[in-house]
Amino acid sequence: MQLLRHFVILSLFTFGCLLWYVNVFPKKRTNQMKKPNIVFILADDLGWADIGYNNPNIITPTIDELARGGVILNQSYVTQSCSPSRAALMSGYYPYRLGFQTGGVRRQMPTGLPSDIPILPRKLRNLGYSTYMVGKWHLGYCKSAYTPNERGFDKFYGYYLASEDYYTHMAGNWLDLHDNFDPVWGEDGTYSTYLFSNKAVEFIDHHDKAKPFFMYLAYQSIHEPLQVPDKYFDMYPSVKNEMRRTLMGMATALDDGIKQVVSALKRNGLWENTLLVFSSDNGAPTLPPHQGSNWPLLGQKHQLFEGGTRAVGFIHGNMLQKTGYTYNGMIHIVDWYPTLLSVAGGKIRDQEIDGVDVWKALSTNSLSPRNEIVYNIISEQGEAAIRIGNFKFMNVLPYTDVCWDPPPEAEGKWGNKTCLKQNENGVYLFNLKGDFIPSTDDPLEHKNLADIMPNKVRELTRRLEEKYEKVVPAFDRSYHDPEANPNNFGGVWSTGWC
Ligand SMILES: *[C@@H]1O[C@H](CO)[C@@H](O)[C@H](O)[C@H]1NC(C)=O
Ligand SMILES: *[C@@H]1O[C@H](CO)[C@@H](O)[C@H](O)[C@H]1NC(C)=O
Repeated sequence: MQLLRHFVILSLFTFGCLLWYVNVFPKKRTNQMKKPNIVFILADDLGWADIGYNNPNIITPTIDELARGGVILNQSYVTQSCSPSRAALMSGYYPYRLGFQTGGVRRQMPTGLPSDIPILPRKLRNLGYSTYMVGKWHLGYCKSAYTPNERGFDKFYGYYLASEDYYTHMAGNWLDLHDNFDPVWGEDGTYSTYLFSNKAVEFIDHHDKAKPFFMYLAYQSIHEPLQVPDKYFDMYPSVKNEMRRTLMGMATALDDGIKQVVSALKRNGLWENTLLVFSSDNGAPTLPPHQGSNWPLLGQKHQLFEGGTRAVGFIHGNMLQKTGYTYNGMIHIVDWYPTLLSVAGGKIRDQEIDGVDVWKALSTNSLSPRNEIVYNIISEQGEAAIRIGNFKFMNVLPYTDVCWDPPPEAEGKWGNKTCLKQNENGVYLFNLKGDFIPSTDDPLEHKNLADIMPNKVRELTRRLEEKYEKVVPAFDRSYHDPEANPNNFGGVWSTGWC
């Protein structure tokens, strides 16, 4: 009897210990889990139908494989143009709260992303990350406090501006390639996709593996000017439109660059613990001198229609609990700031950001915590758009060239180009619910409901008006400061003139 009692007590004790062990040990392990490396690849002006997994005519095998083995983001919103999207990505704020709503930072504009707000690389550095930036900054450079090196990047190699020549790295007649603060003259003739991929590989090869790292790889591709090595142009012999053919080659060159970066991560044993995010910064411009396509979406870069703002994107990495699927919830480029900080084990305090942490939603395919998106508020131009649930309200300029543009190589087969009739007052209401397949559903913005649903218009207008309270006046994009003239700086676009 006594013995049995001891046995039972002992068994219970053992069982209890086991329970304790099972419960406590995994927790401890998660706490001690290595912080993941984060590689954020931002493509420039890459449209919805300019990528292989949305358009089989485009050769991007690496991207397609990463996307299909990860999570394809089907409703990942950005802003209508370059600098506003980049500002949102870095800060977690909608660009209209930073004065960044209107468009790209021009070459001689004495302004930049407000230097008093902490941005993603600085936050990650505080969490123990090494931080590398390769590629296009485009968030201001007139003083060093605006440059990547003083915003939290340990190392920077790339452009301050936009629209450089892919080979000479000149913007206008002056050099815009920088290694930290030093001008890089020696790469005249190296295609920027090669240059940036090689530099990313170099940073990876030299990375101190005791620390996690964040790499922001902001390729120039596939922004105009349309330039590509022959090798890639030759891969599309059946494409008659030469501009389109060049652009398709540029997408393939980009894909090859990403392949190199992934190989470097694998070779260095870093891939298993790397989270890779890929996104475009805005929809494609569809007219020459560009020739992108956002098909089947409506509109293009600089417009708040879906074609300008619903971007291609995906994430890939072992830390995702569920992979190999398409995520259909809404996310916005402002969300990466809190999401990546949360992945890195950080917390957001004392910051009234617009981004929300979507990590759990993406990694488990659960409901998005986001039900509302402000596409932008550009009061200076009388433009604004908001989406709540499936309803999207727009009050925009009566733009010309709002079209459904099939990719030139598929025109006639997939559909023919048609354009929106110009709406006199620029007021639209769409119900974006449902499928691309033509039916009563309307994610492709065919049916303006503004006149027949005035209550809905009022509801969304009211919500937008609340947002207006936080608008910071946009930077003056017409002022060109003569102090910026690169002739004052040895022929280089340089910092130190504001
Ligand atoms: C495009 O237009 C041509 C000429 O009108 C027509 O033959 C063709 O069927 C159209 N294609 C589609 C997919 O609607
Ligand atoms: C992406 O979203 C559209 C509707 O917006 C839908 O028609 C399409 O099926 C979705 N793709 C996937 C793979 O779920």
